Amino acid sequence: MPETAASTIVTVADHAAVRVITVNRPDKLNALNAATLDALFAAFEAADSDPGVRCVVLTGAGEKAFVAGADISEMNTLTPVQGRDFSLRGQRLMRRIEKLGKPVIAMVNGFALGGGLELAMCCHLRIASDRAKVGQPEVNLGLIPGFGGTQRLLRLAGRAATLELCLVGAPVDAARALELGIVNRVVAAAELHDETMKLANQLAASAPLALRGVLDCVNVGGECGIEEGLEYETAQFGLMFSTDDMREGTTAFLERRKPAFQGS
Ligand code: COA
Repeated sequence: MPETAASTIVTVADHAAVRVITVNRPDKLNALNAATLDALFAAFEAADSDPGVRCVVLTGAGEKAFVAGADISEMNTLTPVQGRDFSLRGQRLMRRIEKLGKPVIAMVNGFALGGGLELAMCCHLRIASDRAKVGQPEVNLGLIPGFGGTQRLLRLAGRAATLELCLVGAPVDAARALELGIVNRVVAAAELHDETMKLANQLAASAPLALRGVLDCVNVGGECGIEEGLEYETAQFGLMFSTDDMREGTTAFLERRKPAFQGS
């Protein structure tokens, strides 16, 4: 399998309106090298611009790993300038995913370490297998997280958990990750796929513009004061009244039927 071919490093499959994007380097536990970061970026660009895609599921190939981190063999020889560029490359991808206008679910099927946890954290929801292990082990390599880990973990799980994971560098199991608020749900490994797809299909049937409104409000609100955040929410709320989906959703409720949202 040629490692540079974007189509093999990252695979894409559509299940109705749900797009499943899979990091496909199972022999390297799906470690993120530069080519994989670029292929993922392209895959998310394509998912964003395709109106047929209403929800994205991100996962890793194989039984063992979601993503076991940035590629250590690639990082081993980087110069400081190349290291900085590698960090920016990863951060650009994570930000692109975080700011995607449609929900992204990380289906955490195994190890999510270092860049793998960073990748899972920029997704909007995380469902983990009970066999998953997550962590920021970079200190064990004489490194620190470079794809946003110190910042997103801090916002997701707070200072105590961030310092514990990043300073100690030991992975935690799925139950502990749930306790810390790092993942939304933990399910049995055998049910991970079906449970994730059930949620993804539910989101795919929801009102796309309302979902985007929520994502925008939470993204903006996480970075500003309460006054600006509330103002932004009000503007987005008002905007919803211009959508067909809002008329359809409220009318369907009043008519006691299921709404059919068009994303208009
Ligand atoms: N970068 C590059 N290659 C990686 C990798 C990474 N982050 N994580 C795993 N691999 C490779 C291994 O080198 C090995 O390749 P090889 O068969 O060519 O030698 C292959 O994936 C399988 O990994 P292996 O270590 O043999 O599996 P394991 O079951 O014994 O251990 C882990 C699994 C996840 C505990 C272990 O691979 C690990 O600690 N990985 C690094 C985690 C990390 O520090 N991530 C943060 C990076 S910044």
